[in-house]
Amino acid sequence: MSLLEVKDLQVDFETQNGVVTVLRDLNFKINEGEAVGLVGESGSGKSVTSLAVLQLPSVNAKVSRGEILFQDRDLLKLSEHEREKIRGRQISMIFQDPMTSLNPCYTVGDQIDEVLKIHEGLSATQARARSLELLQMVGIPDPQPRLKTFPHELSGGMSQRVMIAMAMACRPKLLIADEPTTALDVTIQSQILDLLRALRKDHGMSLILVSHDLGVIAENTDQVMVMYAGEIVEAGKTSEIISAPAHPYTAGLLRCLPGRYADVDMETNPKFRLPTIQGTVLNLKDRAVGCQFQGRCERAIPRCSEKGIKLSAKGSHQFRCENPL
Ligand SMILES: Nc1ncnc2c1ncn2[C@@H]1O[C@H](COP(=O)(O)OP(=O)(O)O)[C@@H](O)[C@H]1O
Ligand SMILES: [Mg+2]
Repeated sequence: MSLLEVKDLQVDFETQNGVVTVLRDLNFKINEGEAVGLVGESGSGKSVTSLAVLQLPSVNAKVSRGEILFQDRDLLKLSEHEREKIRGRQISMIFQDPMTSLNPCYTVGDQIDEVLKIHEGLSATQARARSLELLQMVGIPDPQPRLKTFPHELSGGMSQRVMIAMAMACRPKLLIADEPTTALDVTIQSQILDLLRALRKDHGMSLILVSHDLGVIAENTDQVMVMYAGEIVEAGKTSEIISAPAHPYTAGLLRCLPGRYADVDMETNPKFRLPTIQGTVLNLKDRAVGCQFQGRCERAIPRCSEKGIKLSAKGSHQFRCENPL
């Protein structure tokens, strides 16, 4: 049984210029213990997807169709009270900028205690003991005095560790990490990714790792979904997609990784030489007929602009492309 299954999800936003469809035809599954990457340029719909799964969509967002099944229950059909029980306990999330998610007015210890008191019903003493354990678990050195520090006294890496401790407080089955290391420097970035990997192994937790950096996804996930303009354009086993991408957009993302994956076939494939992906992400109000990437794609052929392009599959490898590599 999959832990999470998203079926035919569509999310629309009410904007001043009318209704804009941000996510469409979104289908994916996540198994227990699996790490799934969600990758794409900024604006491709990664955060909207994460927030939809967490059931925290923006006020002007509307799920127009689809199902979000978590352990076979459709989150969209639950009452707010039932959702509250899942959010933060079974599914929790960490964000790019820990400083905006921590409350500057309370100490680290008080903030973690609060989560434990509310969600786990612990007493003040029990909560404090468990908060200490959690700080230890996420590798914060000298955790006892850290409980009494305020968020502004912590470095970026340490505050992200505190956020992870809070997210892990209720032993979630699924952790969504939305660009968790984008604001951190490279050394700290890999320490946080190592920590997430270790926690996932130790707790058998599933992870959705969101990143615009395919290199981060390549090294930290089992499965990957590549998003473009609110659609999944390629999905499958990370190792397969990194070594043999089918979609020109994925190939473009790979080519943008300096040095690391440059030895993929595309190097010698004259059909596809792109140091960067040309153009900018499509304005979602001006969706194209057919493939959304066609205007930036070197491999575009007339068929690409003819109709909605469906996902095709070769085994478990799926791609939305009429002229794949
Ligand atoms: N509250 C909102 N109202 C209108 N449009 C939104 C809102 N939130 C996000 N969007 C739009 O949805 C698209 C996807 O955004 P997002 O999921 O944040 O992208 P990503 O996380 O991949 O950078 C963008 O075009 C963005 O402008
Ligand atoms: Mg985002």
